[in-house]
Amino acid sequence: MACTAVMIPGWLRGCAGAICTQAASWRSPPSAVRHLTLSSMMKSRRKTDHLERTADVVRREVVSAAKVCDTADESPSVKRLRLLVADKGFSFKAGQWVDFFIPGVSVVGGFSICSSPRLLEQDRMIDLAVKYTNHPPALWVHNQCALGSEVAVRVGGEFFFDPQPADASRNLVLIAGGVGINPLLSILRHSADLHRERADKGSGYEMGTVTLFYSAKNTSELLFKKNILDLVNEFPEKMACSLHVTKQTAQISAELKPYITEGRITEKELSDHISKETLFYICGPPPMTDFFSKELEDRHVPPEHICFEKWW
Ligand SMILES: *[C@@H]1O[C@H](CO)[C@@H](O)[C@H](O)[C@H]1NC(C)=O
Repeated sequence: MACTAVMIPGWLRGCAGAICTQAASWRSPPSAVRHLTLSSMMKSRRKTDHLERTADVVRREVVSAAKVCDTADESPSVKRLRLLVADKGFSFKAGQWVDFFIPGVSVVGGFSICSSPRLLEQDRMIDLAVKYTNHPPALWVHNQCALGSEVAVRVGGEFFFDPQPADASRNLVLIAGGVGINPLLSILRHSADLHRERADKGSGYEMGTVTLFYSAKNTSELLFKKNILDLVNEFPEKMACSLHVTKQTAQISAELKPYITEGRITEKELSDHISKETLFYICGPPPMTDFFSKELEDRHVPPEHICFEKWW
């Protein structure tokens, strides 16, 4: 990657002090980066490293400075971050992730964007939701990140929904497990923006229906419940959701009860939604992703209508 083609934040640019070795390693050839991530992989014995897992995936060239402007607990194990990305060269498609560079942390994080492209266009902000793990970038987000913290981000990924105005209208079925909701929430929000644009201007892409199937361990781990239900209630004819909990022990509140099914998402529920006009987006733990993509293939959904991303 040529330095001139990349926008480098100040703390990476100035090669003075402790940051120097880190900045140097980021600019070294991929083999060096691979070595760096391999050693952390061997420690954890799981292929959890973002750069290693996504080594062959397309990324954009632009690395942009970003500042943390809000944080909140989304669940007992998930922290939500809102980043301000002033750089106008930074853009993304609903469903994509960012490489997440942290000063002083040599391992690069990979986090899906859960906000809509519209929020970036209007307010220069993106939202990420990060689950607690022992991976250094996630540890940093949970233990050290604060308002005003400076990081850098670069967009990547081939899992996205970005229809052009003249494209054929499609229905979407989104299938999420756990934190796999993040990219799918971005797609859900983008679909809502497309509906609104079409309603306001009478032009733009014509969205079909969107159905979200979302499964988590229990109701406190069902992230963004309120945001999801608000969208579904705003577009009752266009959007629907089916929320599932697999290991609920506490009683489900009366408010949530009508929306929740106990037990996992079933093939039967899904098969009611199969049609030629439907695109399927699946993001969750690998066994769940494999199960549903195979199920859809067995039911003759063309592979180009099945998009999936495995999230470790
Ligand atoms: C969900 O599970 C988490 C982690 O096991 C636990 O802390 C939380 O209290 C549970 N919430 C509900 C509503 O059961």
